[in-house]
Amino acid sequence: MSLRIMTVYGTRPEAIKVAPIITAIEADPELESTTVVTGQHREMLDQVNTMFGIEPDHDMNIMAAGQTLNGVAAKVIAGLDEILAEEKPDVVIVQGDTTTVMGAAIATFNRQIPVVHLEAGLRSGHIDSPFPEEANRKLTSQITALHLAPTSTSKDNLTREDISENDIVITGNSVIDTLMFATRTLEVHFGDERLEALQQAKKAGSGGRILLVTAHRRENIGEGMADIGAGVAELARRYPDLTVVFPIHRNPKVRESIMPAVADLENVLLIEPLAYAEFTRALSLADIVLTDSGGVQEEAPSLGKPVLVMRENTERPEAVVAGTVKLIGTKRQRIIDEVSLLLDSEEAYKGMANAVNPYGDGKAAERTIAAIKWKFSGGEKPADFGTDVS
Ligand code: UD1
Ligand code: UDP
Repeated sequence: MSLRIMTVYGTRPEAIKVAPIITAIEADPELESTTVVTGQHREMLDQVNTMFGIEPDHDMNIMAAGQTLNGVAAKVIAGLDEILAEEKPDVVIVQGDTTTVMGAAIATFNRQIPVVHLEAGLRSGHIDSPFPEEANRKLTSQITALHLAPTSTSKDNLTREDISENDIVITGNSVIDTLMFATRTLEVHFGDERLEALQQAKKAGSGGRILLVTAHRRENIGEGMADIGAGVAELARRYPDLTVVFPIHRNPKVRESIMPAVADLENVLLIEPLAYAEFTRALSLADIVLTDSGGVQEEAPSLGKPVLVMRENTERPEAVVAGTVKLIGTKRQRIIDEVSLLLDSEEAYKGMANAVNPYGDGKAAERTIAAIKWKFSGGEKPADFGTDVS
């Protein structure tokens, strides 16, 4: 009998990272796939499903304006409980650290179904940063049956919390599988004309330098976001040859605090969130990346882009150690100084612009399937089980 695997996800980054796993499950005759979206995100989630041709079997459609953490968690637990009762999967996969993940893990655990956690073991060591993601990851780890860690650092974090080594497999991060798939797409035509013109200018060897910016962290909303807006605006004024490409997150609180500062600047392209293929093309075109995103911290280093991370700490230390990522916090002046340094000093720029791939080799989906079969349906123990993959 085939193993019935349910994959539950709800936000853009989860969708990007589960897409290659769902594709691999669907291609395997020994496995049966059910996909469930909570709909914690809507447009940003649908964008990814559309790109990968995934039509979820269940859509809980929970997103609401001004949603609260507890509101999301309550809807995820109650809604998924009904779907679990109906579908009775053998195992449930969750990915990452969102409230969807924590809620889905609790609902699954309470139904006595094993939880498989992708991207397990990341820890910043600060319970309030990222908030609430650090707690979501720790809570999920406590009730997970199979932990799929991207790196040995994340595996070590889990064993330090007394999680048995026999329940952990290092797979690499599936974000690199998705990135490799997307960057193989030969032609990306940007829907936004100004961005398309920028791409053509870059191809022709002109067009100046590009700073790609994203921001959305909950703990940065308010003062942090206002500082980010002010810092980016000052950089745009100071460097007229610079184009700032800023696909802005759909959270209205992010928009309210950032948009006024940058809205009227000609060299700031304030645009709607880009579809994944377009975003990764924008990453390839960029000279510098300024972000507070988790996923972007993993992708940009593998494209050799210097990444300035607007946070005080990170649960992804590997690229910091490799020198391609620098933590700079969210203070306006620091943002201006750090970006200016990379724009003004070739030496500083070259010191950071190194392609490194600490997060994976593009085969995480393959390893994930092997690990699930080993743990839940008598498959062989994966050979490179406990070591880094890149
Ligand atoms: C969520 C996750 C965060 C993840 C981020 C990725 C939690 C607590 N937070 O944060 O870990 O890094 O997603 O982007 O799980 N909205 C839309 N359309 C969308 C998406 C969001 O309109 O497609 C708006 C809605 O008004 C929504 C608000 O954004 O209420 C906030 O969304 P929410 O998922 O609660 O928080 P994020 O900041 O997106
Ligand atoms: N991304 C995207 N379009 C955009 C901005 C980001 O597709 O306009 C992708 C990006 O490549 C990465 C993911 O979204 O894979 C990161 O999502 P986000 O920053 O929202 O969440 P986090 O990774 O911080 O949880």
